[in-house]
Amino acid sequence: MTFYRGHLLVCGGEGCTSSGCNEVHGAFREAMRKKKIEDEIKIVQTGCHGYCEKGPLVVVYPEGVMYNRVGVKDASEIVNEHLVKGKPVTRLFLTDPISVDQVPKYEELDLFRKQHRIALRNCGMMDPDSVNEYIARGGYSGLAKMLDTMQPAEVVNEIKESGLRGRGGGGFPTATKWEFCSKAKSNKKYIICNADEGDPGAFMDRSLLEGDPHSVLEGMIIAGYAIGADEGYLYIRAEYPLAIKRIRNAINQAKELGLLGENILGSGFNMELKIKEGAGAFVCGEETALIASIEGERGVPRSRPPFPAIKGLFGKPTIINNVETLANIPYIIDQGAQTFASVGTDKSKGTKVFALTGKVKNSGLVEVPMGISVREIVYEIGGGTFEGKKFKAVQTGGPSGGCLPESKLDLPIDYDSLASAGTIMGSGGLVVMDEDSCMIDVAKYFLTFTRKESCGKCTPCREGTMRLLEMLEKITAGEGEMADLDRLERLAKTIKTSALCGLGQTAPNPILSTLQYFRKEYETHIKDKKCPAGVCQALFFYRIDDHICVGCGVCIKACPTDAIEGERKQAHHLDMEKCIKCGGCVDACPFHAVIKE
Ligand SMILES: Cc1cc2nc3c(=O)[nH]c(=O)nc-3n(C[C@H](O)[C@H](O)[C@H](O)COP(=O)(O)O)c2cc1C
Ligand code: SF4
Ligand code: SF4
Ligand code: SF4
Ligand code: FES
Repeated sequence: MTFYRGHLLVCGGEGCTSSGCNEVHGAFREAMRKKKIEDEIKIVQTGCHGYCEKGPLVVVYPEGVMYNRVGVKDASEIVNEHLVKGKPVTRLFLTDPISVDQVPKYEELDLFRKQHRIALRNCGMMDPDSVNEYIARGGYSGLAKMLDTMQPAEVVNEIKESGLRGRGGGGFPTATKWEFCSKAKSNKKYIICNADEGDPGAFMDRSLLEGDPHSVLEGMIIAGYAIGADEGYLYIRAEYPLAIKRIRNAINQAKELGLLGENILGSGFNMELKIKEGAGAFVCGEETALIASIEGERGVPRSRPPFPAIKGLFGKPTIINNVETLANIPYIIDQGAQTFASVGTDKSKGTKVFALTGKVKNSGLVEVPMGISVREIVYEIGGGTFEGKKFKAVQTGGPSGGCLPESKLDLPIDYDSLASAGTIMGSGGLVVMDEDSCMIDVAKYFLTFTRKESCGKCTPCREGTMRLLEMLEKITAGEGEMADLDRLERLAKTIKTSALCGLGQTAPNPILSTLQYFRKEYETHIKDKKCPAGVCQALFFYRIDDHICVGCGVCIKACPTDAIEGERKQAHHLDMEKCIKCGGCVDACPFHAVIKE
């Protein structure tokens, strides 16, 4: 075995790849070769750290110093100064967005300090293409322990004790589902990993598959053993080529080591895992549609019961679990149910991975204990909204979720409290909004998505979402009437209770939650014909304030429709007939003379 005096970890997640980490990686290799230290320091390409906007990220161990926005030209400086002379390059340290201090170690950054990593325990810490590194970090010891010492029913029981609930959206207790399937009588059963991840803005599952593929495989093998399956599928959307490549490599490696395939670790237990690439339809994340898609049929849902746990893939008992759910499983078996259950709330144990985005300083992938408040996530981890902007809402649960107002900032995040506040955990999207967001426009955005993704099989969803969208469009166009609010609410509730699958049943959530918490904003759109956030185009206009305008003419050049006229050094005039409200003049005017009203 080769020993190295240090490790240089270059993030190889999708985010850092798009900002050039492969070139940076090459530059490090070259710089280390020149200094003849390639045998002393090992370069490792890792998965995502969750701080993609600051990528490419590079971490140097044993010190644990993290560098951000590393370019090709920085590689030789880091090698010469840090790796050779032992002097870290301070100008590339991360800056804490709250204290504005430079932070050498990423564990010291609030974004990371407040996290508790279970599912993401290996992401960014190891080479995802190396099964040996996974094993060195404790990987496959849960599997070995299970095959050595546990009967399937004991595995189900351990998961029950842990209190794990499915991370794919519904939060259904994982052990209850497994128990159902394990008791079903059949000579053939299947385990499926749902890696469809259709929610716009969500990238938790992709990052897990890219950064730690073996933990998902190990979770599937354990789940298969618990329910009595010997075959499984990973349903991964085809837009995730890196995740597919890493999983394929992990499957081959696990097979070579006898951790997958026939007679795993000499136990007599067999498991074969295959990859099925999904075409990227949101509805294919729904269990019965996903099964149809693997079977080669059109990916549309069917009514339940029978549940997949009894009659699933090819008519056989099948368990479908989310990527994050599965990544938690090896940890629970290895560390024991109580270790997992000691984190979280009474009814929501463990942690949850969120994709924190929107109008927040510090966006990224965060894993936090259940029960943490919305405020802690938005302010202590996310660093709050941008300078001078007032927090307005946070949207949880993706297109099926809802918006929570400022008064809910202290709500503890767990399945039940979110549901009682009118939203859901969903797969873990968290979008922060400030005063510049119009809540009706937000509801319209999500409804546009669900309407487009509706498979059209049942009328409430196919027709109902269309009618809801028409009413929202009417309101944002300034043509709404007060009676529309009751109509919206009534139809939304009808769709919720009558649609065939979860897509239609949850599609009205963004409307219902905004009606609940931001009704005044709807009323202002209808009664005053105004959009307080200045988003709805039909409800605002621009004018030039003649007291401020100095007649510099800059706006004339910025206007694509010749809507602005004026003599030099005289106040200019804006013709609303010609204006297309692009905002170009607002951005261009150095004197802030263009006013939005
Ligand atoms: C329209 C729709 C889309 C869904 N998309 C996903 C998805 O992308 N990933 C996922 O794990 N679950 C998704 N689900 C939930 C799954 O159907 C299922 O409940 C989940 O995969 C079960 O795994 P869990 O028990 O581990 O959460 C979706 C559900 C619906 C109704
Ligand atoms: S609710 Fe929508 S997506 Fe689901 S089956 Fe009905 S039409 Fe299809
Ligand atoms: S908003 Fe756009 S179109 Fe209207 S006046 Fe300004 S630059 Fe011209
Ligand atoms: S850019 Fe501003 S100050 Fe200059 S002419 Fe236009 S509105 Fe007036
Ligand atoms: S891809 Fe590098 S931090 Fe996310």
